[in-house]
Amino acid sequence: MPLTDDDLALYERARGASANAHAPYSRFPVGAALLTDGGQVFTGANVENASFGLTCCAERTAIFTAVSAGHSDLAAIAVHAEAESAPPCGACRQVMAEFAPQLRVIWRRDGELVASSLGDLLPDGFHL
Ligand code: THU
Repeated sequence: MPLTDDDLALYERARGASANAHAPYSRFPVGAALLTDGGQVFTGANVENASFGLTCCAERTAIFTAVSAGHSDLAAIAVHAEAESAPPCGACRQVMAEFAPQLRVIWRRDGELVASSLGDLLPDGFHL
C-alpha cells in the first residue's frame, strides 16, 4: 500500500515515543504510535523487566493505553526501531487483530518504510 503523509507523521510519533523505552537488557528501544478512527494518537514504548518474560512490546503498550482509555476503534499503528527491519512481533499482531482486523501497519522493512494491512501480516489469526 502506498505511504501517505499521515503515515509519515504517525511514524514520527512512533520514533519520538521510542525515547521513553525502558530497554536496559536488549538495548533495543522501540516506539509505537496508534491512530484511532476518531483521530487521536496514543503512543507506547517497550518496557522491559529483569524477569525477561514480563517485557511488554511498544505496540502492546500503545494498544493497551488506548483501549484502557476507552478507544478501541484502531485505524493505524506505526512502529519504529533503529534497525533495518522492525516488524511487529507475532504476539502484537494477535493483539492488534483483537481490536482491528483491518488495521493499517506502518513499519520498517529492509531499510524502507512500508504500510501493510494486518490481514497480510497475520493471515488466519486466532479468533473466537
Ligand atoms: N519489541 C517490541 O517492542 N516490539 C516488537 O514487535 C518486537 C520486540 C521489543 C521487546 C524487547 O524489549 C525488545 O524489543 C527486543 O526484543
